[in-house]
Amino acid sequence: LKGSFVILAMSLEEPDKIVAFKRSNPLVIGISKNAHYVASDVSALLPYTKKVIYVEDNQLAVVSQKKVQIYPLKGKRPIKTVVSKIQWNIEQAQKGGFPHFMLKEIHEQPRVVADTVNERIDKRKQEVVFDTINRALDRRMKTINKVFIVSCGTAYHAGLVAKYMVEEYAKIPVEVNVSSEFRYSDPILSQDDLVILITQSGETADTLAALHEAKKKGAMTLAICNVVGSTIAREADVVIYTHAGPEIGVASTKAYLAQLTTLCLLAIYLGRIRGKIKKDHEARLLRVMSTLSKRVTTIVDDCKNVYHCAGRLAKAKNFIYLGRGFNYATALEGALKLKEISYIHAHGYSAGEMKHGPIALVDKHLPVVCIVPDSKTYDKMLSNIQEVKARGGMVIAVATQGDKLIKKYADYKFYIPKVPELMSPILTIVPLQFFAYKIAVLNGCDVDQPRNLAKSVTVE
Ligand code: M6R
Repeated sequence: LKGSFVILAMSLEEPDKIVAFKRSNPLVIGISKNAHYVASDVSALLPYTKKVIYVEDNQLAVVSQKKVQIYPLKGKRPIKTVVSKIQWNIEQAQKGGFPHFMLKEIHEQPRVVADTVNERIDKRKQEVVFDTINRALDRRMKTINKVFIVSCGTAYHAGLVAKYMVEEYAKIPVEVNVSSEFRYSDPILSQDDLVILITQSGETADTLAALHEAKKKGAMTLAICNVVGSTIAREADVVIYTHAGPEIGVASTKAYLAQLTTLCLLAIYLGRIRGKIKKDHEARLLRVMSTLSKRVTTIVDDCKNVYHCAGRLAKAKNFIYLGRGFNYATALEGALKLKEISYIHAHGYSAGEMKHGPIALVDKHLPVVCIVPDSKTYDKMLSNIQEVKARGGMVIAVATQGDKLIKKYADYKFYIPKVPELMSPILTIVPLQFFAYKIAVLNGCDVDQPRNLAKSVTVE
């Protein structure tokens, strides 16, 4: 057999036994007192057990009610297995009174940001700490020449933001790639390079293939991953876990905020170990990061304002999202959220590209979502907004609280609290998640399981 797969086989002669084999795709065996389970994802096992065995490629699992034995593909003796404990609990994998997982997950974001930040700050030293980075890895990271970030979908958008963060704080050049292109581009990699793989599931086939390519070429690999024990987390040289808890909704929300927050901490950490950030600067940044959770809460509390706008625009056929710099990724991510759950065409653009083509689309039927927080390109964004208005378009602006000018130009305004520009993507996406959610609900779409999509894309 070629390719990626999991096969479960049963025989009429031994009906109480399942034989399982996998290649490249995930396979987990759940262990409980009275039963054993075979699954592709740990969150499916949460209602039954927290004890799991991760099956590797070229291993054969023989599972019955009483026993689990793992054999090497060529060999008769079972191998010693390691039973791991899932850290998540069953409540985290339930809707908890919300109508949809996606809505619950958006509401969880203040907690997710707080957990991600709090566990990574050494309060006494006012420094970022990663418990999975030991001294040897730390030494290696000090001397890397270039960073490659590789990921797909929402995680790719997190990578686009991380490029700015790492370049700003650590002064290392960063290249961002979509995983599906990475290995086919024959990337020029060496042991002096760091390849960061961002993935919620840790099972995305393209990102896994990119990891293999990076390892083959001798680069150091670091996974930013949400699922403990997943394939990419196990195979990368270093893993930094995001603390988002299980994300069930197919549209990624809280994992994105956890990725952005973790990547910001990583950029600060790299800046310090490479001598680009002074102690007092790091302490100042960490003080701001500690307030992010509260600021996300402010936005979550204001969701009714977003819902009102969604109600007015739910029947629009097309949307354009515009952003620049750190928030170019927010434009892409906002558009992705809308299209994947509401099936409305939405296109994210770098606002500076507007006049190079997309402006031809603007008329009174086109809502244009402009991400325009306080930033060094604020004036440029404002002139984009005026260009849209001059052509009869409708503007929905994500702006900073207290922005008086935006009141004049935008038809609808979603406000975020003031933060340094570099951290603003952690906030600007939140109203756009609510916006996409509400439009999808109003159009009767299946928000948690949109058509044609899977939570983990385990095929290339
Ligand atoms: O598990 P991963 O983070 O590797 O998944 C990457 C993408 O498949 C994922 O972000 C996808 O784009 C989501 N549907 C976006 O909401």
